[in-house]
Formats: sequence, C-alpha cells, structure tokens
Amino acid sequence: MACIVFAFKALCLSLLFITVASTRPTNRPKVFNVRRYGAIPDGKTDNANAFTNIWKSACRRVSSSSKIYVPKGTFYLGGVEFVGPCKNKIEFVIDGTLLAPANPRDIKQDTWINFRYVNNLYISGSGTLDGQGKQSWPLNDCHKNTNCPKLAMTMGFAFVNNSRINGITSLNSKMGHFNFFSVHHFNITGVTITAPDNSPNTDGLKFGSSSHIHISNTHIGTGDDCIAILSGTTNMDISNVKCGPGHGISVGSLGKNKDEKDVKDLIVRDTIFNGTSDGIRIKTWESSASKIVVSNFVYENIQMINVGKPINIDQKYCPHPPCEKKGESHVQIQNLKLRNIYGTSKNKVAVNLQCSKSFPCKNVELIDINLKHNGVKAGSSTAVCKNVDGFASGKMVPKHCLG
Ligand SMILES: *[C@@H]1O[C@H](CO)[C@@H](O)[C@H](O)[C@H]1NC(C)=O
Ligand SMILES: *[C@@H]1O[C@H](CO)[C@@H](O)[C@H](O)[C@H]1NC(C)=O
Ligand SMILES: *[C@@H]1O[C@H](CO)[C@@H](O)[C@H](O)[C@H]1NC(C)=O
Repeated sequence: MACIVFAFKALCLSLLFITVASTRPTNRPKVFNVRRYGAIPDGKTDNANAFTNIWKSACRRVSSSSKIYVPKGTFYLGGVEFVGPCKNKIEFVIDGTLLAPANPRDIKQDTWINFRYVNNLYISGSGTLDGQGKQSWPLNDCHKNTNCPKLAMTMGFAFVNNSRINGITSLNSKMGHFNFFSVHHFNITGVTITAPDNSPNTDGLKFGSSSHIHISNTHIGTGDDCIAILSGTTNMDISNVKCGPGHGISVGSLGKNKDEKDVKDLIVRDTIFNGTSDGIRIKTWESSASKIVVSNFVYENIQMINVGKPINIDQKYCPHPPCEKKGESHVQIQNLKLRNIYGTSKNKVAVNLQCSKSFPCKNVELIDINLKHNGVKAGSSTAVCKNVDGFASGKMVPKHCLG
C-alpha cells in the first residue's frame, strides 16, 4: 500500500515537473557569433563597427537574453563603446583574441573596450585581450612632458551592476588593464593579467566609487599595482590572488583631491605576493585636500616572497606637485587587522606604519606576523611606527613597535 502511494506521488511530481517545464518561456539566449555578423578574424580588418552593431542588436533584444560569442581567431578591434541599458542580461564569451591597435593614436578614447550603464553582463571565455602596449610604454612620460599622448586602458566598466568576469586573459595593456568606476556587485574570478614588470602604469585592476566587489583565483603580474583601490570604494573581498611582479595591492593614493570619499570594509585573504615592490600598501598624500576615513580592513593568511616592503602604510606619500612636502595627511586610518602575514622582505623595514601626526592611525591589530629580512643589507627585519595606536599578539617577527 505504502508502495502504491509512493509511486503515485512520484508520478504526480514528475507530471507536475513536466507541466512546469513546458509552460516556462524559453530562456535560452540568442547567440550572436561575431563571425556570422560580419567580424573578420584576419588580425587587421577593424572590427569596431561590426562589434558595435552586434552589441546594439544584443542589447535591445527583449524576448530572450543574448550571448555574444567571439570564437577562436584574432579579431583586430579599434576603440569600442558598449553602452546600455539593455533589455536583458548579456553574456559575452571570448574564446578568441581581441587585438588592439599597436599605435596608441588609433584608439580615440580613454578606454579601448568600454562598457557603460549595463547590468547583468557576464564576460567569460578562454580568450585574450591583447593590448599591444609595447609601442606605447616608451611614450608614457607625462610626468615630464605635458604634450604626452593619451594612452588607453584596456577594458573599462562604468555604472555597471550585478555583473562578472570569469576566465579571460589581459595581456600588455597600454595603461591599466581593467578600470572600474561606479560598479556595484561585480565578481572577478579566474582572470589572468600580464604585462612586463618595467611597463609603466599597467595597473591590473583599478576601482573607484565601487562596492561589493569579489576578486578570487586571479593572477596579476604587471609593472604597477596588481589591484588599486581608490576613493569611495567599499565592501571588497579579495581572495586567492597571486600578485607579482608589480606594486602590490594598494589602497590609494588618497587625499590628493578635495571631493574624495571614505574607503571601507576591505578583506584580503589567502593571497601571495611574489617579487613585488610592495605587498599590503596604503598611501595617502602628505599635504591632503580631503579629510576622509579609511576603515575596517582585514588582511589575513598572506605570504610574501621577496617583497620590497611587505607591509607599508605611508601617510607621507608625496610623489610630485601639487603635493608639498609639509603638513600632515588628513586621511584617518582606523580598524586595521593584519593576521598571519609571513615570508620574506627585501627591505630591512618589513613593517612600516607611518601614520599622520594630525590623524594618528587607530586600532591597528597585528596577529602572528613572521617576516624575515632576506635583502642585501645585513641584519634582521625591523618595524617602524609613527603616530599609530594599536596592539599585537602571537608570533611577532619583526618585534613590533605599537604603543
Ligand atoms: C547600481 O547599484 C547602485 C548601488 O546599489 C545604485 O545606486 C544604482 O542605481 C544602480 N544602477 C543601476 C543602473 O541599476
Ligand atoms: C558574486 O559572488 C558572490 C559570492 O560568491 C555571490 O553571492 C554573488 O551572487 C555573485 N554575483 C554575481 C553577479 O555573479
Ligand atoms: C615566485 O616567482 C618566481 C620567479 O618568477 C618563481 O620562480 C616562483 O615559482 C614563484 N613562487 C610562487 C610560490 O609562486
């Protein structure tokens, strides 16, 4: 009897399932294979128009979502702008190579591939964004030449929500690789970012005014910051990142401009810095124009391999005018926890906590730090504390200097 009841229930359930499944509207995406829509993978025909038109068709599609597919092959692409809002979600699958113009003057915009005002954008694939930066790097002399050419970043996102990138490679950007401005709820996983260690300003991932960002399983090696976190960015979770070569994971620089916003709620965990100039870095301008707060940061389970300055809080950052080497930073740094940070430091000063005299760092917690000096100078690692209030526990190499 129980058996019959059971069988009947199972039958009912499966009937119900079939009914539900068959009445649901199809949500298979409409596929736009770029080759079938006029793109030519010969590495020299400019596909910018073809891509822009495909984007427009995909973006205005109402009856289903869209999937733009870039198959294997080399698609030369001048500057493109992919602008929303779109009617539906869009997948952008890149298995081929998108090749940027080698001459920087052939990209007539700030960003080579730029997404704006889009929600639910899912970029993935095994393909490559080849920024062809080599010809541009020697032209990057804006610090001494006011007539310097403007170099484009590889891929930009502005006013983009609920989106993600999974799996692609970005190679040899002219300036930064990926730039995010006013982006909320965005995930980055399995991405590879590569440029030579001597390529100027080739930041890996750069964020401003953004929130709820997850970065994981990503390998970044460039000539500048692996990740740069700027004004107004909150709620970032960075894990399983390999950074190097490069300048580490940097918050800032902050304080230079007057309308800057607080930076808070950052976690960096299970990450390796290998051969970088800095590891964990916060930099604020010595003579600052804005009074903001940097707070609630956790760095944990972090390995440093031959890192120049593994832990470097620098509130005396003053690279060039308009910074003046006088006065104190007005950026308040507080609630910072560093736990289980270990490995090797090329500088003797493995822990540098150089805070502002006007706004001393508050509530800095060091737990289990083990950073050995392995540079050319003799002697073991040291710590520097200026205007910092906090406490330490567990293993402590170098000996801490918190008051
Ligand atoms: C994106 O998210 C932010 C923060 O949640 C919100 O203020 C903004 O209106 C959203 N933008 C769009 C286009 O949905
Ligand atoms: C991003 O990842 C988080 C945590 O895994 C998840 O909850 C969220 O839904 C993801 N968002 C997107 C847009 O993929
Ligand atoms: C660190 O970088 C060096 C030099 O590129 C490399 O040989 C080594 O395998 C890397 N170590 C780790 C743990 O990634």
